[in-house]
Amino acid sequence: MASIATAYEVSPLDDRIPFGAKVSGLTRDQLEDPQIRKSLNDLWTEKGVLLFRDGDGSPEMQIELSRCFGELEPHLFKETRSEGNPDLVRLKYYPEDGTLYKVNGELRGSWLPWHSDLVYSAQINRGGILRPVQLPSWLGHTGFLCQIAAYERLPQELRERIEGLHVVYEVRINLSLNPFTNAGDVELEHFAESGGNIERRRHTFPRVIHPMVYTQADTGRKVLNVSPGFSIGIYEDGGPEGEELLREVVEYCTDPELSYFHEWEPDDMVLWDNWRVLHCATGVPPDATRVMERTTIKGDYAQGRVLGLDGPVAQFDM
Ligand SMILES: [Fe+2]
Repeated sequence: MASIATAYEVSPLDDRIPFGAKVSGLTRDQLEDPQIRKSLNDLWTEKGVLLFRDGDGSPEMQIELSRCFGELEPHLFKETRSEGNPDLVRLKYYPEDGTLYKVNGELRGSWLPWHSDLVYSAQINRGGILRPVQLPSWLGHTGFLCQIAAYERLPQELRERIEGLHVVYEVRINLSLNPFTNAGDVELEHFAESGGNIERRRHTFPRVIHPMVYTQADTGRKVLNVSPGFSIGIYEDGGPEGEELLREVVEYCTDPELSYFHEWEPDDMVLWDNWRVLHCATGVPPDATRVMERTTIKGDYAQGRVLGLDGPVAQFDM
């Protein structure tokens, strides 16, 4: 008889990309086994993205599974929390109240460029597990891209230029105004009520900086730690040369050859390491509905810093 430790299967997420794994057949009772919890944590550290499929896809499983990887925290902005459950963030698009962009000529509800969650705060969450509640009949995919792989592709000359530099981030939920997303032609058509409320925080929420490169503690691998979404410039150089350098780096962060786009099935759950993997949303057609729920796994890689509290803030002082 198979032991409980081998009662789920692990396979590559996609043979084309150098990260991610699929975990099939995981159930709630298996999470009680400390050995399984450790194996899942080790797999996550190694692979960055884990797809859980053909197992327990319930909201209870989502929360218990998330707790295998760390404590949960409520999202910084109350507008995004799920009603009745502070452990869940609700990501929703309804045709009657949803954020709508025109992206390269196509209308897309709840479109999001490549970004890290909470990168506009000093303490970036460790990760999260995303689960579909209501899926559209087409589109609505989530993209993932590994920043360890992106760093490995950086030319040596570029690695040397960015070592020791930092990127400045701010809460700018109107993503059409984000200058470094490398997403093409993006226009905001309509803001959901919750999005407009968060956007107003831009004027009072302090900007932060994060290093462009950091080292993954458990493995010693270097991470290209740049989120195109929410970035507004390089801290050490707010001028045209800094802008050009950031654009050059973002090309590597958004390299389509390193991306994986997940096409959701109803009971899927995807866990990603927010300290090493960027994600994005293709968005949905304007008349579709899409509802997803996400946990926020707490953590602090202790590299972020709030601007304006402990030193000069160069061109980015508010
Ligand atoms: Fe996100």
